[in-house]
Amino acid sequence: MKTLQVKLKDHSYPIYIGNGLLSRSELIQPFINSKQVMIVTNETVAPLYLQTLRNTVAAAGVEDSNNKFLVLPDGEQYKNIDVLNRVFDELLKFNFGRQSVLIALGGGVVGDLTGFAAACYQRGIDFIQVPTTLLAQVDSSVGGKTGVNHALGKNMIGAFHQPVAVISDTDTLNTLEDRQLIAGSAEVIKYGLINDKDFYVWLEGNIEKVMSLDKAAMVYVIEQSCLNKANVVQRDEKENNIRAILNLGHTFGHAIETITGYTQWLHGEGVAVGMLMAAEMSRKLGWFAASDVERVKKLLQKAKLPITISNAISSEKIVEVMGVDKKVQDNKIRLVLLKSIGSATITSDFDLKLLYETIEAFQE
Ligand code: NAD
Ligand code: GLY
Repeated sequence: MKTLQVKLKDHSYPIYIGNGLLSRSELIQPFINSKQVMIVTNETVAPLYLQTLRNTVAAAGVEDSNNKFLVLPDGEQYKNIDVLNRVFDELLKFNFGRQSVLIALGGGVVGDLTGFAAACYQRGIDFIQVPTTLLAQVDSSVGGKTGVNHALGKNMIGAFHQPVAVISDTDTLNTLEDRQLIAGSAEVIKYGLINDKDFYVWLEGNIEKVMSLDKAAMVYVIEQSCLNKANVVQRDEKENNIRAILNLGHTFGHAIETITGYTQWLHGEGVAVGMLMAAEMSRKLGWFAASDVERVKKLLQKAKLPITISNAISSEKIVEVMGVDKKVQDNKIRLVLLKSIGSATITSDFDLKLLYETIEAFQE
């Protein structure tokens, strides 16, 4: 097992990465000792891992009457205020107090929603992330961004609320559908592009190992991703500046997800084509070599990620929705763009015409 530490000013927490961790009560015990615990999961993950985790919580000394769970519907379209309210209903029904702990068992949807419930309930209670998708293990479980979607914009309602621990059991990835594994790899590639050229080069040579769930490669990829993410979050926890680079490709991707009703494009898929759009836009601005755009395209293709969008999604609509983004300042869209492989920058200094042209180059 690898242990990393996210070191923040007011709050630090461990990330455990390895196989078989779901059953290790000693990892979770310090965070749930004598507390009321509610595991929040969804209808897909529950039959696979809920009982194991409930047994682990029990083995950590939590008595049956305090070992509760809630199973939510599965899907990005359920990451909303109505489903969030179901968590509050359940917590209130069982008289959960301020000392209680939520455990998010699932992918980024369950993690974001449960984290937000923990941020709000009685003005904030503890929560533990037990991520079960690649995307959640390399990205969403770390860094404390929690929230839900709004019909008009993704992740628009939320809070910064750090977990007390992250437990990433790599065995859970064995049951993940290929499409989800592929989508998760987009966020992995992101770290190489924005911050870590060596890691990017490693991915170019080894992405097949990730796709075939090679054990050592998975631990390496999750560890490097979390180290990269922790490094940025430690410098700028609340995204006042540098943390925004973690959103490479996201402004494009979120718009595509939002326009298609959160049902057609997976988050990582939107990020993938969005990263390629960002690379191409950077090239148009004269910052990024054409040969590097080709390298990005090649790696995304190797990972079987999408590199085009349907022309049914109009560039006008995309740009309109891109205007509903948390990075917007003074009514201007700000984009994370690339200077080179391993170096990103944030800018609003571009001609909107260039943005339209970039998007249109990817429509087919
Ligand atoms: P997800 O949570 O929808 O999970 C993907 C699918 O896999 C779901 O159907 C889920 O039920 C299923 N699943 C989960 N674990 C499984 C397992 N072990 N075996 C089989 N099936 C399993 O999607 P995701 O890709 O994990 O997360 C995407 C979400 O994360 C988006 O809402 C995105 O906005 C958010 N996100 C948040 C952050 C952050 O910093 N908070 C960062 C990146 C993404
Ligand atoms: N996924 C972007 C961030 O955590 O800041």
